[in-house]
Amino acid sequence: MAVLDIRVLGDPILRDRTEPLPHVTEDLRSLVADMFETMYAAEGIGLAAPQVGRKERVFVMDVDENPLTMINPEIIEREGTERAEEGCLSIPEIFGDVDRATRIVVRATDLDGNQLEVELTELAARCVQHELDHLDGKLFIDYMSLIKRKFTARKWEKEATNYPGFIRKLEPGKTHSRRSRSRGAAAESSAPPFEPEL
Ligand code: NI
Repeated sequence: MAVLDIRVLGDPILRDRTEPLPHVTEDLRSLVADMFETMYAAEGIGLAAPQVGRKERVFVMDVDENPLTMINPEIIEREGTERAEEGCLSIPEIFGDVDRATRIVVRATDLDGNQLEVELTELAARCVQHELDHLDGKLFIDYMSLIKRKFTARKWEKEATNYPGFIRKLEPGKTHSRRSRSRGAAAESSAPPFEPEL
């Protein structure tokens, strides 16, 4: 297994659509193992293949110690709407509110090639919707208002200089300081104590 480099905003692969996978191969299993390792190293809760420079239609996630691999995922039911703040491992230091369905049923193939249907709510449901967007070349900043997007673009211009070639190299063992940052939004009982980075 290996910790992979994360592609950040500006790398064109983040805007590409992924292709459905006809089979679960050894190569895919190896990619998924590396994606889990990368996601944990980055202290994220979700990671999609384009974020590590790949075109496979797959993402991994782990919300509340429930690791899931979703190959060719599709949302077949959605219910409710909740607005909450999101972040993204591919857009460090940028956060914004996004409306997402609060309950979804997602159908996907797992690593054994079996079809699964999972019902997820709240943060796990939000994570699936965010990752599924990645597989279609969509990012959470696309939901921002024009004004907020302009502000974000200016902030990102400075932030992006930390990532030459749009590559974010993870340092193994480095801890993230964000978890201890106090957040006003956390006052809402359903909100996580830190922004989920997906
Ligand atoms: Ni993301």
